[in-house]
Amino acid sequence: MLRTMLRRASLIHGLAVAVWAAALLLPAVARADGPRERLSLDAGWLFHHGEVPAPAVKGHGASYHQAKAGGVVGAGGAEFDDSSWRRLDLPHDWAIEQAFDRQENASQGYRARGIGWYRRYLQLPESDRGRHIELQFDGVATHSTVWVNGIVVNRNWSGYNGRAIDITPYLRYGDEVNSIAVRVDAEAQEGWWYEGAGIYRHAWLVKRDTLHIATDGLYANPVQRGGRWTLPVEVQVDNTGEAGRAAVVALQVTGPDGAVVAQGETRVRVAALDSATARLTLDIRQPELWSPRSPRLYRVRAVLRQPGAGPLREIDATELHTGFRTARFDAERGFFLNGEPLKLQGVCIHQDHAGVGVAVPTAIWEFRLRRLQDMGVNAVRFAHNAVAPEVMDLADRLGLLVMDENRNFSSSPEAMAQLAWLVRRDRNRPSVILWSLFNEEPLQGSWQGREMARRMAAEIKRLDPSRPVTAGMHDGLFADRNASEVLDVVGVNYQVHAYDRYHREHPGRPMFSSEDTSAYMTRGAWRSDRQAQVLGSHDDEPSSWGQTHRDAWRHIAERPFMAGGFVWSGFDYHGEPTPFEWPSASTFFGALDLCGFPKAAFYIRQAQWVKDRTVVKILPHWNWSGSEGQPVKVMVATNAPRVRLLLNGQTIVEQAADRDGIVSVDLPYALGRLEAVALQGARELARDTVETSGVPARLVLTADRAVLAGDGRDAVPVTVSAVDAQGRAVPTANLKVRFETTGAGRLIGVGNGDPNSHEPSKAPERSLFNGLAQAILQTERDGQGPLRLRATADGLASAELVLEVRTARVPSVPAAEVVSRVGGWRISPPQAARPDPNQVLAENDMNSWGWGEPPIRQSAESTETWRAYRTSLRLRADRNDGQGRLRFQQIAGQAEVWVDGVKIGEKTSPEPAPLSLPLAQGSGWRTMTVLVRAQPGEPSGLIGRVSIERGAGKAAP
Ligand code: GAL
Repeated sequence: MLRTMLRRASLIHGLAVAVWAAALLLPAVARADGPRERLSLDAGWLFHHGEVPAPAVKGHGASYHQAKAGGVVGAGGAEFDDSSWRRLDLPHDWAIEQAFDRQENASQGYRARGIGWYRRYLQLPESDRGRHIELQFDGVATHSTVWVNGIVVNRNWSGYNGRAIDITPYLRYGDEVNSIAVRVDAEAQEGWWYEGAGIYRHAWLVKRDTLHIATDGLYANPVQRGGRWTLPVEVQVDNTGEAGRAAVVALQVTGPDGAVVAQGETRVRVAALDSATARLTLDIRQPELWSPRSPRLYRVRAVLRQPGAGPLREIDATELHTGFRTARFDAERGFFLNGEPLKLQGVCIHQDHAGVGVAVPTAIWEFRLRRLQDMGVNAVRFAHNAVAPEVMDLADRLGLLVMDENRNFSSSPEAMAQLAWLVRRDRNRPSVILWSLFNEEPLQGSWQGREMARRMAAEIKRLDPSRPVTAGMHDGLFADRNASEVLDVVGVNYQVHAYDRYHREHPGRPMFSSEDTSAYMTRGAWRSDRQAQVLGSHDDEPSSWGQTHRDAWRHIAERPFMAGGFVWSGFDYHGEPTPFEWPSASTFFGALDLCGFPKAAFYIRQAQWVKDRTVVKILPHWNWSGSEGQPVKVMVATNAPRVRLLLNGQTIVEQAADRDGIVSVDLPYALGRLEAVALQGARELARDTVETSGVPARLVLTADRAVLAGDGRDAVPVTVSAVDAQGRAVPTANLKVRFETTGAGRLIGVGNGDPNSHEPSKAPERSLFNGLAQAILQTERDGQGPLRLRATADGLASAELVLEVRTARVPSVPAAEVVSRVGGWRISPPQAARPDPNQVLAENDMNSWGWGEPPIRQSAESTETWRAYRTSLRLRADRNDGQGRLRFQQIAGQAEVWVDGVKIGEKTSPEPAPLSLPLAQGSGWRTMTVLVRAQPGEPSGLIGRVSIERGAGKAAP
């Protein structure tokens, strides 16, 4: 049954309040996005790795110019020469392209980060004039500055927050070309892990009416009270138009099956250059609840409509998803979701992956998160920062609980703005159960830390009173004044000894392990060899501050007051190669390696966490030739009560699994087949087998999915392995594999999970490491048809994989060819006689000549009048080769054009007309003067764009 209920409508910001309420049914909305356009800006950027030093600014004229809006000198400028820059598409991480270098920082993975520049050109149709245009970057590592048409429009000092920049005032329309320039400083570090470098998340251009719903301005977070669900909705409406306007705000909620479950509307009035918030509470009867088992999502759509009678006109629309669930932390009994106790089986993860660094395609994220779910994970802590919005969408959709963590611990205005951005973006998400202020801050046990945390927690509560605030504390918990006093839920990192004491001393404060374990393993390696910087996989290599996987979980599992824990770490990540340094360049902590291949820890956690199916896994493999008769340490990870082990069909042992789900025996090695049978009483539940294999004979390619979207974004990890002549996997193979792709996609990265490998991430080849490697394929934009991957290795039969790429498009802004505008004109006072084109204008005279940007139109005068127009020409290298042309779109009046004291052409007719002149080959800087003679009674001037273009015959880049 459809049900509409209007609860409340209000307006803020001191506007005239016009509270209006009604219950009515809305017609179906015709267009998915309304008149709003959200366009990808990912394609067609130009990139330069390294600083582009701006020339020193000296002299009064130059100093005066550079101090003005649009006057930036160097690569931020509109007319900068980027003709030699590399062309690429976002997302882009330049750090992962670098070779390993021992002189670089171990924490960041021994790869140079440094400085980089990006530029892009775009055109906007005339019909966009009068709309609100916003430039959005989802993430740029690390510090960055953005210019539009040479005007600095944004600075951002974090690699983890997105930003939305109103660029409407700086834009030009029609055949004019706009430039965006971004300087990225990745010398700056915000972490002690691999952070990547560059514009590594998506970029967008969002076009809306000047009256529009603000970015992240729709807020719909369900509330349950007295057994009844409501959905209080807030819609922040901004008005960048010239006059105050009113609009109807219409809301519609649809359930998981697409049926409308509630709707309503209210009104809002917004003054010019102001914002107002419309509020409305909808009743939702018996919603389907969201949970990890059943992540049911509801969509909330907000539409701004023109008020009054007549045909409905949509002004703007947006939508989000939300979910209905209750979540609470109990100081005695831990975490409850929808009233049921749920132990948090969590992992901490960073945001990079093999082959691609931090520029991780969403499909690879989905692969990663599904792998974690397969391990039995129900909660993720994105350490130690906000992740890309698509990753949060996946958490909502896949049913993962999220500890959503802020990066910079400070209550400064900038850090508070980053925190507010995070909460506004994620406060509708059912996945988010905790806001985390910080991780392991030295000030955590001090008055300062407490005061900072108190201010930050208050900011979160102002934006989202519904979720608890936490932090990962690794000390200071018992200090006289400490940050835990202002947390709703206390997160403890590694301090196992503090669990009981803190609980005893603060029995009212809910607790959990925000980080634990930090145990080492090299995937596929079974014997530690510290000399070779290899660590074995029998869960016997904890760090000095951490615990084994089994110990860490036992401490949590045994304590009902501990709400759960987050393993450090779910996946390996680049950088932080603890306990080693060079040549190790990535971590040993992961339960899965850099590629997402499971290590032994993955199965040990499965044995502890998975409840809905039988887990039985033999650790290790059974290829120990040369060790015949010698003991091999065999562990079987299982969630079954007992395990029977058979070697070549003979029962060797039958044992009960220990309290951690492990059966452990030393077996003298004999080649053949080892089987583990999981038993309940006499009943076989499942079995696992490992078998000695021979030498590698053939390569095998296994794709995670077979059908991809041809949108230039979709990607798939392909597992590369080797089998012997009988088709048995060879877990010890370490041979080099070469790749070749043809068709509707390309190879974007390779990896093998070896923390000590220095093979490049961007290469058409990779060695198997302990039997496995990964090739990541991405589709081409507008791709369609087969995508083939062929893998070859010396002496082995090759493998070929064919994937199907289907047409799919992401609406996007095409990259424009650069058209160099000629701007920055000085204009002489009108005079009756022809001026000297070479007359000197003193460099420090800012006032006797005027200033202008074409179109410059002088109104009609009664007598014949002359003016000189002067500017500096900055010629790009692709325009000063003798093929460049100077193009005046329209000059009104007769005209002479002089460049560096030489007349290069003229326009003899007085009527408005274009003029196009060839430019001689030569240097990049020239002085140009245009004399314009106005007829009595006629307007005059440079009444159209002036530009420098490539001559005919030159192809666009
Ligand atoms: C923790 C820290 C993590 C990671 C880990 C390694 O102290 O929070 O970011 O460095 O140690 O054990």
